[in-house]
Amino acid sequence: MAAVLLARGGGAAARALTFWCLRQLHTVYQTVELPETHQMLCQTCRDFAEKELVPIAAQLDKEHRFPAEQVKKMGALGLLAMDVPEEYKGAGLDYLAYSIAVEEISRGCASTGVVMSVNNSLYLGPILKFGSEEQKHQWIAPFASGDKIGCFALSEPGNGSDAGAASTVARLDGNEWVLNGTKAWITNAWDASAVVVFATTDKSQKHKGISAFLVPMPTPGLSLGKKEDKLGIRASSTANLIFEDCRIPKANLLGQQGMGFKIAMQTLDSGRIGIASQALGIAQGALDCAVDYAEKRLAFGSPISKLQAIQFKLADMALALEGARLLTWRAAMLKDNGKSYTKEAAMAKLAASEAATTISHQAIQILGGMGYVTEMPAERHYRDARITEIYEGTSEIQRLVIAGQLLKEYRG
Ligand code: CAA
Repeated sequence: MAAVLLARGGGAAARALTFWCLRQLHTVYQTVELPETHQMLCQTCRDFAEKELVPIAAQLDKEHRFPAEQVKKMGALGLLAMDVPEEYKGAGLDYLAYSIAVEEISRGCASTGVVMSVNNSLYLGPILKFGSEEQKHQWIAPFASGDKIGCFALSEPGNGSDAGAASTVARLDGNEWVLNGTKAWITNAWDASAVVVFATTDKSQKHKGISAFLVPMPTPGLSLGKKEDKLGIRASSTANLIFEDCRIPKANLLGQQGMGFKIAMQTLDSGRIGIASQALGIAQGALDCAVDYAEKRLAFGSPISKLQAIQFKLADMALALEGARLLTWRAAMLKDNGKSYTKEAAMAKLAASEAATTISHQAIQILGGMGYVTEMPAERHYRDARITEIYEGTSEIQRLVIAGQLLKEYRG
């Protein structure tokens, strides 16, 4: 518009407007290019993943082995408590930084990516937001260094998507809570030293009867189910947590009694940014693999990257990835700016997880037979991608959340 005004001889006002527009554009470009600190963090995480994760990711996956040594090193780099303030021994960064870091780590090893995401978003997140000062000092610092990691227990054998139907019970007995019930599909279960667990103190109140509790691991009355044998993210542990008259101090209630469902929902809003970022890492890894192969593989006398059939696939893959990345960064920046981000986090997770499954599927198509064998990482990316459409809310739940928020905005 300013250019039009200038052409018509609009004078000083138009020149000021042009200047203003150029400044806005400059800001947009700077934002898209990422601030310098975030670029440096990205490079550090990429180097770490290349050196420490890429060489062992296939072996970790094959052996279902938790990357204990690498997780400790990530703790030393500040990657396990990224948005936790320094007074609680965190890195004091923001959620955009966290998103970038999870993507780079997941590009090297998606299992390590989810270990990192669960500790940051699902374990430390609710304690940082809802914990008392005393709880923050006790339950955060040891989990920031990589010495210990945490987990989050919401789902149960009888309810996953319907999180408000929790049937694990918490009963107050003198100065202690007594927990009974089973939690299912708990990421990090076998390797965790504490869990944020959701249980009902009054089932008749449905979701309003749910509270959140902090439970150390191991602790009497809490046992682990078998380690699940999974399709992907096999280096992270997944198991049931079984509570049988498990007693914890009264002071281990997190937030107010009856606030548990809201704590879970708000925690998942942030967690979905973490899983979207994990999906971006998997998708980028698959795309890198496909581009590299297409450039090196000869067919009909030249590299297959010369074929339009391959180029069209690569273009669609890159487009889906970039779109999902922008949505993910946007959700992270809204959170960093204290704005509402429930809808945007759900959009980011939905777009990134669907991009990851499509891109990793197409990467195998480009690699052909080489995509189907474990010699190349493409088949692992394909297996790892699938869970991102399921955990922290299925794609169907993300659509419900997006539509719910959209209609809420419309109705005002
Ligand atoms: N933030 C704050 N409050 C929220 C909220 C949010 N994002 N979403 C809902 N609420 C509040 C509502 O305002 C409402 O409050 P009031 O009672 O005061 O009115 C209350 O919560 C109930 O809301 P709904 O009626 O919308 O709740 P619902 O029972 O219909 O469920 C749902 C909504 C979106 C389907 C929710 O149950 C959900 O997200 N389900 C998916 C659960 C999930 O993601 N599980 C993942 C498990 S963890 C995991 O996967 C970890 C891992 O391994 C990596």
